[in-house]
Amino acid sequence: MRKSIIFISGAIILILASMAFVIEKEKKTAVKLGKLLFNEKILSKDSSVSCASCHKPEFAFADTTAFSFGINKTTTSRNTPSVLNMKNRPYFFWDGRAASLDEQALMPIENPNEMGLPIKEAIKRLNESTFYKDYFLKVFGSLPNEKNLAAAFATFESSLETDNSRFDDWSYGKKTLTESEQRGREIFVGDKAKCFDCHWMEDFTDDDFKNIGLFDGMKLNDSGRFRINQKKEDIGKFKTPGLRNVAVTAPYMHNGMFKTLEEVIDYYNDPFKVVPNAQNIDASLKQPLGLTDTEKKDLVAFLKTLTDKAFEPKK
Ligand code: HEC
Ligand code: HEC
Repeated sequence: MRKSIIFISGAIILILASMAFVIEKEKKTAVKLGKLLFNEKILSKDSSVSCASCHKPEFAFADTTAFSFGINKTTTSRNTPSVLNMKNRPYFFWDGRAASLDEQALMPIENPNEMGLPIKEAIKRLNESTFYKDYFLKVFGSLPNEKNLAAAFATFESSLETDNSRFDDWSYGKKTLTESEQRGREIFVGDKAKCFDCHWMEDFTDDDFKNIGLFDGMKLNDSGRFRINQKKEDIGKFKTPGLRNVAVTAPYMHNGMFKTLEEVIDYYNDPFKVVPNAQNIDASLKQPLGLTDTEKKDLVAFLKTLTDKAFEPKK
């Protein structure tokens, strides 16, 4: 008798638990809606491109080419950055022209080189879908509109924080780094390489605009922040990118001109060797750093510890 009571109550608990699991799984949230929309191609003019076409989830939400393809095989004019760890950023885009994720979110939809669809048309398409109408109503209590569409993207993107790298394990005292990685960390924060002057704070960015020498007004003619504010001192400045997961997001820089981290380090070691007529370069980079081959390797080894385990190559 007792045994069967135990058995029945055990079974009931199991059923309830699995029901809760199913409900939880089906619970409609802004994050899940944002994720669906991030992968939704109907938000591009010819329904061929979604945000995820360029911000590829398997490459830490960046792209693997210098410039990405939008609709009609047009290409973007800058390299696609990762959209991970955006939550605490005060600026978006390489030149910082958007001040919030909400403000940023609708720009790629209208951008003719990206998704090329007027926002009004995007909202109309979503309102023609029973699935999305229902989803937006459940999550926001209103039908799809510009505001809640932007909010859905922003909420999803804010959920994409990564803090489970080998570097994090090390900083919580859980695991050690190899000797080379530790040396690399010391070089990174030290006075010789000066990386930490700009790539600091928890996501390895100062959330500021700097010119590292990739503007010469000739071949390299993207003036970056200057285009937004026309301030002379900002010529050639770009947003300092965060470096979490950087091993997964090649190629590098606003124009994707470096294919590997080794190339990036070689560049920093002696910028003028690569761009002899760099204009307005940051004072800290005017002299060659004089890194040895081992120091360069150590720096790369350190940068690779910043990869979240979700993006570590599968063994
Ligand atoms: C055709 C490729 C492409 C598509 C599609 C695309 N993006 Fe981007 N995204 C880029 C490029 C290129 C940049 C950098 C542009 C710049 O800085 O001028 C960028 C920048 C961003 C940034 C700023 C990141 C940072 O570090 O400041 C966010 C956030 C973002 N995109 C989100 C989205 C969302 C959301 C969508 C879909 C609605 C989307 N992107 C669609 C290529 C794309
Ligand atoms: C003066 C500030 C400054 C210093 C010092 C600096 N960086 Fe940067 N870093 C930037 C800026 C700004 C960019 C983007 C430049 C661009 O695209 O034109 C960048 C880009 C990068 C990128 C490419 C990231 C991507 O997603 O494309 C890597 C990697 C990087 N830096 C690593 C380092 C390392 C390693 C050092 C030290 C040797 C260093 N940085 C020193 C400001 C700086």
